[in-house]
Amino acid sequence: MAHVDAFEMERYQSLYWHLVDYDLSESGVTPLTIRELLGPDADAEFFLQQALGYPLSEGSYETRANIAQWYPECAPENVTLMNGGSEANLLALWSLLGPRDRLAFMLPNYCQGLGLGPFFGDGVDTFKLKPRDGRWSLDLEGLDRAAGKRTSVIMLCNPNNPTGAVLTDAEMQAVIDVATRAGAWIVADEIYRGAELETDVASPTFWGRYDKVIVTSGLSKAFAMPGLRVGWAVAPEDAIAKIWTRHDYTTLTPGIVGDRIAGITMRPDVRETVLGRTRSIVRANLPRLEGWIEAHPSFRYVRPVAGAIAYVGYDLPVRSPALVERIRTEQSVLLVPGAMFGLKKGIRFGFGYDIEYTMKGLARVDDTLADVSSTATHGA
Ligand SMILES: Cc1ncc(COP(=O)(O)O)c(C=O)c1O
Repeated sequence: MAHVDAFEMERYQSLYWHLVDYDLSESGVTPLTIRELLGPDADAEFFLQQALGYPLSEGSYETRANIAQWYPECAPENVTLMNGGSEANLLALWSLLGPRDRLAFMLPNYCQGLGLGPFFGDGVDTFKLKPRDGRWSLDLEGLDRAAGKRTSVIMLCNPNNPTGAVLTDAEMQAVIDVATRAGAWIVADEIYRGAELETDVASPTFWGRYDKVIVTSGLSKAFAMPGLRVGWAVAPEDAIAKIWTRHDYTTLTPGIVGDRIAGITMRPDVRETVLGRTRSIVRANLPRLEGWIEAHPSFRYVRPVAGAIAYVGYDLPVRSPALVERIRTEQSVLLVPGAMFGLKKGIRFGFGYDIEYTMKGLARVDDTLADVSSTATHGA
């Protein structure tokens, strides 16, 4: 039987997020309630009368039409609904990778592709975002090297998890140029699109820039509804057909309640209201986290451009999984180590939840950091 590596980050979070005093591992913002989404005058009866039958396999036409409006020149036929962005990623890679195909995979990243690439295909070649001149920029030479004759998919996450970096137009074009040269598909995980810190315009999408693109996304991050388990793929119709074939073997359809709520959320007016809420949360909270970061002169930090996560590098003689595990066991605070994103000495901090709660968690992190620093100094 083909081996599949554990998805370390997901397993680490699932084991502990509900047991700690402070969960700062979450990458989204405080979830919406259905009441907040629908407004005070909403007809709750509408939901109570919803028959819990199967929805259409690909999601209702209305929901797909509303999602399509968030992408340039996109038709409802280019959209299919699934259970979470994670299922969209899985079905995209399963559809595009054959046993001899290689996956070119961006690091740092949400490492689902790192595990699935060798499972569906022959293996993974990585390329990097690197901190340079105050931003995380794409290493073009590394990308060029990673995409060879057998590369059938280039997968990236934009806006990026864990850095919050967003590719420039020139970088997006460079990815497309390399994909064109290699004859490869691009799978762009854009689940953080819409949570921008500096602008009310959503980050650019890969959809519409190249023929062989599958965009994966969903309501879990920028739309603040992770528990709804709604994800989607936006793809050319032939790729949608391949995804559907595989979806028939996984979860068949989205959930009916998720389909209905996604239909409401993705109406352009509601969509902008929900994204406005997310943007105001991340804009209010990040300066507080940054105040804490600035109090640690040894941290290396590049401001995120979008999303509710910030990545901080540190200079201490301890690897990131060990440091984060110490913080969890000593302080009951959950964070995510850089190693779980393909980085080394660093930690990802979620800042999209109640900021007073977050700051209390960070104060506890300080206790362990102080101890690690003093041991390092005295040990040296
Ligand atoms: C980049 C990225 N893609 C997909 C997912 C999974 O999304 P979902 O919860 O919608 O399955 C995550 C979750 O952290 C993520 O960070």
